[in-house]
Amino acid sequence: MTTKRLAIIGGSTAIGELEVINKLEVDTPFGSCSSALSTVKLDGKEAIYMYRHGDGHTIPPHKINYCANIWALHSVGITHVIGLAAVGGIASASQPGKIIIPDQIIDYTYGRKHTFFESALNPVTHIDFVEPYCDELRKALIKAAANIDLMVLDSGTYGVTQGPRLETAAEVIRLKNDGCDLVGMTAMPEAALARELGLCYATCAHCVNWAAGLETSKHQIDLSAMHENIVQGQHSVRRLIIAMVKCL
Ligand code: HPA
Repeated sequence: MTTKRLAIIGGSTAIGELEVINKLEVDTPFGSCSSALSTVKLDGKEAIYMYRHGDGHTIPPHKINYCANIWALHSVGITHVIGLAAVGGIASASQPGKIIIPDQIIDYTYGRKHTFFESALNPVTHIDFVEPYCDELRKALIKAAANIDLMVLDSGTYGVTQGPRLETAAEVIRLKNDGCDLVGMTAMPEAALARELGLCYATCAHCVNWAAGLETSKHQIDLSAMHENIVQGQHSVRRLIIAMVKCL
């Protein structure tokens, strides 16, 4: 049996202070990753942590070098990847504060380099993506949440928008009609690239606002409340990740 090696890609939602043991800069054929790969200790267990938006949170969702990030993780022997994500809630159950382990994706992004399989030297390659997330890792997250009595939503369709702007109210109505339960900007092409390289990938989404137009009393998304929710949720996301590392 191959050893499971976990990486966490931290987004706007993160897990707070990290005990860093080592930092590795990885060169990839696709250019630079968002950040060095930090080996961190989570409750005594090692994992790799990468900052999706860069160390200083400077890389917007559409400028992230998803290919370099996933390639780098694969090249150092990572087998399992959890992408943390701050998202907007669309379904009534996906209210701000909730943690959601989505099971489906609809991709609305464009112009992002989204595949490793486009070299003229390789035969055309398709991946199966019926279930975009790794069931093993989703179940480990859901079980870990139960172990620590943390209420999470165990399914949901993640609509991935281009950003960096938030959506219009009409766009959110469309996302809702399409069946999206939550909206964020980074699960794609990250999930598909992970699948292309055979990595087990899941999203741990933290809802930080109602998606645009869903709060009828408000005509704008309150960005400071959104940031406040990001900070407030960090503790629960951290507890969940630590519990999950023990389950894996
Ligand atoms: N839309 C897209 N991405 C997001 C949102 C949102 O409402 N909130 C946090 N990330």
